[in-house]
Amino acid sequence: MKILVTGATGSIGSQVIQQLRARDASFRAFVRDRSKGESLGGDFVVGDFDSPESLRAALQGVDRVLLNGTPSEGLVRQHRAVIDAAKQAGVSHVVRISTRGASATTDFLVGRWHGEADAYLEASGLGWTALRPTYFMQNLLRNAESIRNGGRFFGAFGTGRIAFIDSGDIARSAVAQLTHASPRSGAHSLTGPEALTFDEFAAKLSARLGKPVAYVDRPVSEVIENMRAQGFPEAMLGSFKGMFEAFAKGAASQLATGVKDLTGTEPRTLDAFLADHAESFR
Ligand SMILES: NC(=O)c1ccc[n+]([C@@H]2O[C@H](COP(=O)([O-])OP(=O)(O)OC[C@H]3O[C@@H](n4cnc5c(N)ncnc54)[C@H](OP(=O)(O)O)[C@@H]3O)[C@@H](O)[C@H]2O)c1
Repeated sequence: MKILVTGATGSIGSQVIQQLRARDASFRAFVRDRSKGESLGGDFVVGDFDSPESLRAALQGVDRVLLNGTPSEGLVRQHRAVIDAAKQAGVSHVVRISTRGASATTDFLVGRWHGEADAYLEASGLGWTALRPTYFMQNLLRNAESIRNGGRFFGAFGTGRIAFIDSGDIARSAVAQLTHASPRSGAHSLTGPEALTFDEFAAKLSARLGKPVAYVDRPVSEVIENMRAQGFPEAMLGSFKGMFEAFAKGAASQLATGVKDLTGTEPRTLDAFLADHAESFR
């Protein structure tokens, strides 16, 4: 049984590749850049979601697909193209990385894109699993430089609790289904085992590093301005405003059992993540 791993160079996909290799599963990576494919090792095809010929070539002889990409305005078009090509190629099951709160009617743009793509997959007639994770622990690494240099980092999450998830647990959930004789259909919410505020994250990190680390809450407008300066697409910024406001009110705090349901084991704690990544913050 051959598994095509799209988004193979990303934070989830690269861990999926490692885990499939550890299980001796047969896989093929779909990459945009040949040198990245070579460094992954093993079978790979160079292509792009926007190139139907490359999808056809990549899907030859494939039975299952991990569908994962970057959240962008092209996501729905691109994921539909992969789903159509998978159907034509005789794929039996697609595992798609979606997001918590995905819905075709939500105001949160990224959630709407994922909701539309999940609905298209569900209606495709293929076997389907949508994994809907919350905020990745790995996003916290974006604050590492600021913490290293000044012991502080900034955000607009207020005192909202977030059920942070390790992206390795998303990869484990995906691999468990991609390799299962009878993968579980439907949408599954994935979170870590606890919901914490950013102040609590800072306190845990401070204790681990043995030096003060502070979370500094800033107005949403200021954080959005910084994201604009970093080059985030304009179309996404308005919806991030809504996301910060919702997260501050606890919209990402609810715990879900998806990781345990799909893998049989509990998701990793933030303490375990910080133990692995302490040097990045030191
Ligand atoms: N970060 C979070 O907190 C969070 C929370 C919930 C859900 N999510 C969802 O999780 C997904 C992101 O997962 P991730 O962290 O693994 O993403 P990532 O690290 O940014 O990886 C994205 C992957 O997609 C590939 N890709 C992008 N455009 C492509 C195209 N046109 N054709 C083929 N491949 C393409 C990239 O390849 P290259 O190496 O060539 O760029 C990369 O391998 C997104 O859908 C996001 O909405 C994220």
